[in-house]
Amino acid sequence: MLLLGIETSCDDTAAAVVRDGRDVLSNVATNQDAFHAKYGGIVPEIASRRHVALLSAAVEDALARAGLSFAELDGIAVTSGPGLIGSLVVGVASAKAYAFALDKPLYAVNHLHGHVFAPFLERDEPPPYPFLTLLVSGGHSQLVAVDSAVRMRVLGRTHDDAAGEAYDKTARLLGLPYPGGPALDEMARRGDASVHPFPRYRPNDGSLDLSFSGLKTSVRYFLESDAGRTAKAEDVAASFQAAVVDVLMARLKTAYERASYNAVTLSGGVAANSALQAAVRAWSERDGIRALIPPPRYCTDNAAMIAAAAFYQGGAVRADPVALTANPNLPFEMGVAT
Ligand code: KG4
Ligand code: ZN
Repeated sequence: MLLLGIETSCDDTAAAVVRDGRDVLSNVATNQDAFHAKYGGIVPEIASRRHVALLSAAVEDALARAGLSFAELDGIAVTSGPGLIGSLVVGVASAKAYAFALDKPLYAVNHLHGHVFAPFLERDEPPPYPFLTLLVSGGHSQLVAVDSAVRMRVLGRTHDDAAGEAYDKTARLLGLPYPGGPALDEMARRGDASVHPFPRYRPNDGSLDLSFSGLKTSVRYFLESDAGRTAKAEDVAASFQAAVVDVLMARLKTAYERASYNAVTLSGGVAANSALQAAVRAWSERDGIRALIPPPRYCTDNAAMIAAAAFYQGGAVRADPVALTANPNLPFEMGVAT
């Protein structure tokens, strides 16, 4: 089954062709960072205008790289939410037009479900249900029990900032350009994580919830203090990163112990983080846990993961090419029993 994936929920204009949810025949993404960097964050109006300018070329490029014509596709998969409304509508309108004009099935995919299936791209085996996913991106941070392709339960989520948001805000405090996550990760590799023991905030209510705004504030107060003004930025970065990874690992381990899973997966932009990946790998090797971590290009937003999710979710996400609308607040749980 050959699916064209289209992803425009935020600031990446992406298109990909994927066979059977796993073989990535092409994966095209046009990064808009240069247009947003000077504002220190994503400007929604700029993002949607760039999508309008770039999407048709990205789709044509994805087909050309896959060596396919539109007629050879078995369907079109598009992110219908959650995300920025002005960005989502560009992808949704174009996917509807392709599906209608080509008379091909249309699949409306939840962006976060795309992240859940990213770890299975370019692997030989299908998802080993049930598995436990740590989904950490710029907009979301949550632990998810994936019982099947369409039944996913959120076990814990952040009360405030997402992990990626904490990275981006802390990176900004350290004078790094947007998006700060990758730059902070790089800087932390040259620092000593034991220099500043930042607090490991965790809601203390027996839940698996997370909280990152207090950590970001601690870093800000520290940088404004006398000690902070003379501290090495690399050590601050490493100490911040260690606090994030400790909290995420503690929650992941507790969640894993509370039920029976066939694997643990990482997904979302922060899954590209070198310290988080190293911690998960070490745990998996020590305790014999099957851990699936996507390569960085499938951690951050991409269209291949959208085509993959549509393949696994199939009829449950079939959409009408006339009626489909983008939903910026699309709920995570589908509520479909299997
Ligand atoms: O999943 P994603 O591409 O977009 C959303 O759906 O939000 O995630 C983007 C987020 C940004 O906050 C970015 O700074 C963060 O992922 N990120 C990282 C790394 N690479 C990307 N954070 C920490 N370390 C990284 N290596
Ligand atoms: Zn994302």
